[in-house]
Amino acid sequence: MKQLHDALKQNSLLIDNFLNSYLPESCGLNKRLIEAMRYSTIGSGKKIRGFLVMEAGRILLSNKKKVKDYMFKELLVAASALESSHSYSLIHDDLPSMDNSDYRRGKKSAHKEFDEATAILAGDALQTCSFEMIANPKNIRSPKKRSALTFNLSNSIGFLGMAGGQQADINANKKKISEKDLFWIQDKKTGSLIKCCLIFACILAESSKMEEDSLINYSQNLGLAFQITDDLLDLNGDKKKLGKPTQQDKLNETPNFVTILGENEARKKCKFFSEKAIDSLNIFGKNAKNLVLLARYSIDREF
Ligand code: IPE
Ligand code: IPE
Ligand code: MG
Ligand code: MG
Ligand code: MG
Repeated sequence: MKQLHDALKQNSLLIDNFLNSYLPESCGLNKRLIEAMRYSTIGSGKKIRGFLVMEAGRILLSNKKKVKDYMFKELLVAASALESSHSYSLIHDDLPSMDNSDYRRGKKSAHKEFDEATAILAGDALQTCSFEMIANPKNIRSPKKRSALTFNLSNSIGFLGMAGGQQADINANKKKISEKDLFWIQDKKTGSLIKCCLIFACILAESSKMEEDSLINYSQNLGLAFQITDDLLDLNGDKKKLGKPTQQDKLNETPNFVTILGENEARKKCKFFSEKAIDSLNIFGKNAKNLVLLARYSIDREF
C-alpha cells in the first residue's frame, strides 16, 4: 500500500499546484468567492478522482508508440477539472438544506467557514471552472477532445448523473427504498463522476475500445465499493481520521448500503465489487498495479 499512498500524495501535489495557479490568490470584489473556492479544493481531500485520470492515462499512454509531452499536461488539466467538480459537489452536499454537515476534510465546511451564500456560489463557480479548464484551447489542443470531455462531464454531473442521484438521495430521506433504487442512486450520485474519470483518460490517451470497456467496468465496480465503504465509515469510522462527521446518514435517516443490506452483507458486497474491479484490469497486466491497489484500498480505507 505504501506504493499507492506515495503515488496519491505525488498526484495531489500536482493537482494542488495546478489549482493554485488557476485560481488567483484573490484579486477584486470577488476576493471572498475565490478564497472559498481555494479553501475547498487546494491542499485537502484524497484526490482519488484526479488520480484515476492520471493513472489510467499513464497506463494507456505507456502502451502507445508515439506519445507527445502535452498529453500528460492534458491529463493533469482533466484531473484538476474533475477534482474541481467533485469539490463543488461536496460543498453543496454539506449545506444545511442537504446533508447539513459542518465538518469536511478535517476542517469547517465551506458554509461554516464562510457563509451559506458564499458556499453556494463557490460550488457553482468550481463547477463552471471545471468546464472552463477542459474547454480552453490553451489547455486541450484538439477540438474533438475538448468537445468529448465537455459532453461527458455535463452528462456525468447533470440531471442524468450526479445531480439526479443527489436529488434522489435527499428525496429518499426518512423513507424505505428498494435495493434496486439504492443501486440506482449510488450509480448516479457517486458512480457517474468516477466513471467520467476513466472516460476522460480514454479520450485524452486515445484508447482502444477494449481498453475503454475494461476501464469503465473497473470504474463501475470501484464506485460501488467506494460508496459502500463510505456508508460503512459513516456507521463506525473514526471522525478524526475521516475528517468529516460520522453517523450523518443515521441522523438524517438517509438510506444507504449499510441500512438497507445490513453491515455484514455490505462488507461482503464491497469485497465482491472490489474483486470485480481488479478482474477487469487483467488486460493491463502489471502496469495496472496502482489501480489494483486503489481497488483494495477502497475496501479497507479509514478515510
Ligand atoms: C466523498 O468522496 C464523497 C463520496 C462520493 C463518497 P471522497 O471520500 O473521495 O472525498 P475526498 O475528496 O477525499 O474528501
Ligand atoms: C455524497 O455522498 C456524494 C456527492 C457529493 C455527490 P455522501 O453524502 O455520502 O458523502 P459524504 O459522506 O458527505 O462525504
Ligand atoms: Mg449526501
Ligand atoms: Mg454527505
Ligand atoms: Mg457518506
